[in-house]
Amino acid sequence: MEKLIIEGGKPLCGTVRISGAKNAALPLIAATLLAEGVHTLTNVPDLRDTRTILRLLESLGITWERQGTTLKIDSTNLTYSEASYELVKTMRASVLVLGPLLARLGKAKVSLPGGCAIGARPINFHIKGFEQLGVTCRLEQGYVDAEIAGRMQGCTIYFDVPSVTGTENLVMAAALAQGTTIIKNAAREPEIGNLVDMLTAMGAEIGGRDTDRLTIHGVERLYAAESEIIPDRIETGTYLIAVAATGGKVTVTDCNPVHLPSLLDKLRAAGIEVKETDNTIMLDATGGRKLKGVDITTMPYPGYPTDLQAQFMALMAMSNGVSMVHETIFENRFMHVAELHRMGADITIDGRTAVVKGVGRTGFNGAPVMATDLRASSSLVIAGLAAKGRTEISRIYHLERGYEQMVEKLTALGATVWKEQE
Ligand code: EPZ
Repeated sequence: MEKLIIEGGKPLCGTVRISGAKNAALPLIAATLLAEGVHTLTNVPDLRDTRTILRLLESLGITWERQGTTLKIDSTNLTYSEASYELVKTMRASVLVLGPLLARLGKAKVSLPGGCAIGARPINFHIKGFEQLGVTCRLEQGYVDAEIAGRMQGCTIYFDVPSVTGTENLVMAAALAQGTTIIKNAAREPEIGNLVDMLTAMGAEIGGRDTDRLTIHGVERLYAAESEIIPDRIETGTYLIAVAATGGKVTVTDCNPVHLPSLLDKLRAAGIEVKETDNTIMLDATGGRKLKGVDITTMPYPGYPTDLQAQFMALMAMSNGVSMVHETIFENRFMHVAELHRMGADITIDGRTAVVKGVGRTGFNGAPVMATDLRASSSLVIAGLAAKGRTEISRIYHLERGYEQMVEKLTALGATVWKEQE
């Protein structure tokens, strides 16, 4: 396994280009199963997770080729309908093949994803929706064995909690169902809008984009099309927070500021200058301004994103104030706290709330730490970039799931960072 070494304490300055969104690429790659032919996806990031879902599609009979950030996926020969535990256990989002397989083949056998570091990650909302569409789902030996004779029948589905991949799975299934499906309390993340745009280009009829009520009029057939992956808003937020933590200055390009309403508001409340155009964000944290403590509560979009909670906590840990961080989405998303403690952070956890007493940038010192999940690992990178001295982060395969060329992008901003074998 590899570890990341950071010699921290220097302000990051320069320009960074944002890659396509991991959490859009995964559902859009899965959506190619809905129609035979050669689909084209552009601005696709090359990540551990995108490579995993492409391996999963290969196991179903699909062929693909990558030309730079463009993927050509030929889903004509969809011959298998089973997603193995070996593949699904490494990436929960593999469950996104359930909807397309049921819509195209009328059957699917997908391993239950199992939990991960941040929580149990159930898929009961997905299963309930499929059963309402007429699918028979059996849960046995850790697999979901689902099938339906003929087409799914449109219905009204209500989510107790807006689920991102749950909404995506059921929109894909409903696109080829008989009749109309209405999804209420749907998730509204921008990645769902990206999927709706792709399905519409393929011939689907979907209303309510970006709202919590989606109306899908099922069609007989869909067709291969070309779609572009939106910029990764979580990668964008991660670099903005990293530069702010080091007291630097950055221009982030090829991003979409509209997708980060809450984070930009919180950075400004912390006393950081943030300007934006339609596809760039300029952040200036130079001048030695002291960071103010700012409270965050994670919420479904457009609230503060849970995927940027760990990163913002690292920033608040080096502020000159006190911050309350309330995590409402996942039950165990404070794994980064113990590691931040090793670097000098003063954080107290009480259930799903963390009280962060800033120790200032000078209060942070480099240390050996361990990554536990994707976003916790980026929080440790941020702390290591700001802390004086050397930080060694082990198990950085977590990081490589969701950040394309992070060492190259940070080096271009002036960071001293490299990988070594553990
Ligand atoms: C998506 O996960 C993202 N992953 C996650 O990003 C993100 O943290 C999460 O949405 C919340 O925004 C992808 O898009 C691939 P949910 P997802 O279903 O869809 C509960 C990252 O770092 N729930 O919206 O799995 C669930 O336990 C990853 O990139 C059920 O109870 O999340 C959670 O408490 C991490 N039953 C809440 O709903 C279900 O059937 C929201 O989960 C489904 C969800």
